[in-house]
Amino acid sequence: MNETAPPDAAALIYGGTAAYWLDLTEFGRVVETRTLDTPYGPAAPIDWLALPGGAVVGFSSRHGVGTLQRSAGFVNHRANLWAAHRLGFRAILSWNGVGAINPVLTVGDLVVPDELIDWTGGRRAGTFERWRQPPAGPTFDPGLRAAIWQALETVDHSAGRAVPGGVYVCTEGPRLETAAEIALLAAAGADVVGMTLAPEVWLARELGLRYASLCYITNYATGRARGRAPRREFGPAVGQLCMAVLVAAVRL
Ligand code: HPA
Repeated sequence: MNETAPPDAAALIYGGTAAYWLDLTEFGRVVETRTLDTPYGPAAPIDWLALPGGAVVGFSSRHGVGTLQRSAGFVNHRANLWAAHRLGFRAILSWNGVGAINPVLTVGDLVVPDELIDWTGGRRAGTFERWRQPPAGPTFDPGLRAAIWQALETVDHSAGRAVPGGVYVCTEGPRLETAAEIALLAAAGADVVGMTLAPEVWLARELGLRYASLCYITNYATGRARGRAPRREFGPAVGQLCMAVLVAAVRL
């Protein structure tokens, strides 16, 4: 770790789908980048981005820089969250691609989830292994969710609707779910499916970091196209839109 303190920024944006293709200079000026070695292994690099007008925000791409280097099941959440905490961030706003389970949802829609079903099983890295039970509380931070929701009003997302709540189910991966698994998860109340938010949300809470997510619907979950043409949206425009929304949320 460098001797000097990093720039002060309260919020860190975790980029998911297509974040590895982002040109950060479209959003601000990168003033510093750090890559920490942590007790849990190397963390993803963190950039400090000075936004027009002076605010500074952190940015880190979970799945790699320049290209896809690790898919959702292989993200080192403990290293990433440990680094975020060590570097002084107090809030995480993340985006992540998801499959639509709820039939009212369409590819391109943007969901601000309010609940989570953790359907992972083998992720032993789900806590920092302290002796005490992690603190309880709302799954997602209500204030940050409200900021993302408000930001959605200020950014053009005409290709998809904004949806103010929903249940995210996190599956183990790395394989996609079967149609029967998705039917089971639909019956359990899940609206969207991804492989990212658990244990990221739990680790953030354990460290006292506020956390909220913006889910971009990249595809219909297995067996849920229901007569609609199968679509997959993983291109650079996904990252650009989600980054614009979360930068707007930080500036509110
Ligand atoms: N399943 C799991 N994770 C995902 C999906 C999906 O359909 N789409 C994007 N992430």
